[in-house]
Amino acid sequence: MVEQTATIISNRCETGLYFRLVLHAPAIAPNVQPGQFVHIRIPSLKDALLRRPFSVFDTGQETISILYKVVGKGTVALARMRENEDLSLLGPLGHGFTIPTANSEFPLLVAGGYGMAALYLLAKQSTQKGIVFAGARERNDILCEAEFRALGWDVRVATEDGSYGERGLVTQPLRTELERQAEGRKLFACGPTPMLEAVSKLAEEFGVGAEVSLDQHLCCGVGACLTCVVPVKTSDGWEYQRACTEGPVFDARKILWEAGL
Ligand SMILES: Cc1cc2nc3c(=O)[nH]c(=O)nc-3n(C[C@H](O)[C@H](O)[C@H](O)COP(=O)(O)OP(=O)(O)OC[C@H]3O[C@@H](n4cnc5c(N)ncnc54)[C@H](O)[C@@H]3O)c2cc1C
Ligand code: FES
Repeated sequence: MVEQTATIISNRCETGLYFRLVLHAPAIAPNVQPGQFVHIRIPSLKDALLRRPFSVFDTGQETISILYKVVGKGTVALARMRENEDLSLLGPLGHGFTIPTANSEFPLLVAGGYGMAALYLLAKQSTQKGIVFAGARERNDILCEAEFRALGWDVRVATEDGSYGERGLVTQPLRTELERQAEGRKLFACGPTPMLEAVSKLAEEFGVGAEVSLDQHLCCGVGACLTCVVPVKTSDGWEYQRACTEGPVFDARKILWEAGL
């Protein structure tokens, strides 16, 4: 992990409230594992000391890109930033996904909204192409479908309002696929906590492995403040683990969902 001043190469609106930020970050880019994140300090914010975490969407030799949704003051300020301005980045941070290989289980990726951002690098680095289940409230929240398809993945879409793909929650087409075949498959998910819990229950029901990237509120991002702890089962009970260091990606079977996240 390093702290680096990164220069904005581009920061453009993709669709609706979603922006793609490309940064020149040569000290971080070569070391990113799928599912890891960077912690960004946004200089124009009054509470600039408080960084904001974002999954690394993609990397180039000296660049990283981030796909973010504008939700509050930090992301509003980020969306106003322009080419050649600088940001402070801490990264790469956290424990990422296990990358599927040709010999491992067939990967089923499950994304809710900007959860797609945490899964793209995994899809890119996986030597086995599987299925991506992309879910969102409406059509405008379905991100980078074409980019996943261009990598050779089968993309299946579900929207809650039925404006695109199957109507309903993303877990429905996932269930249908698991009913068709569960053996030899593994789930990788990122999205809102209720979706991750539902994916974990499906994994348990069908006896397949699952890795989930938790969207906890983070503060320090480096394991010092304990704001991000998650109850995780151990051999003799359970313990709190930090989403920013032991996670954000966890084995779904180990999370004590019933304790509430
Ligand atoms: C490991 C990790 C990876 C993430 N990756 C991405 C990503 O790739 N793209 C992306 O758009 N966002 C991502 N997020 C969420 C992102 O960090 C928050 O949306 C951002 O910090 C909000 O900052 P803000 O100042 O704009 O909002 P604030 O003004 O701080 O909050 C605005 C609203 O957003 C909610 N919010 C804040 N943080 C989170 C959070 N972590 N999860 C859910 N709701 C939150 C607040 O409760 C509030 O309702 C990630 C979060 C984590 C923990
Ligand atoms: S955010 Fe501080 S310990 Fe995880």
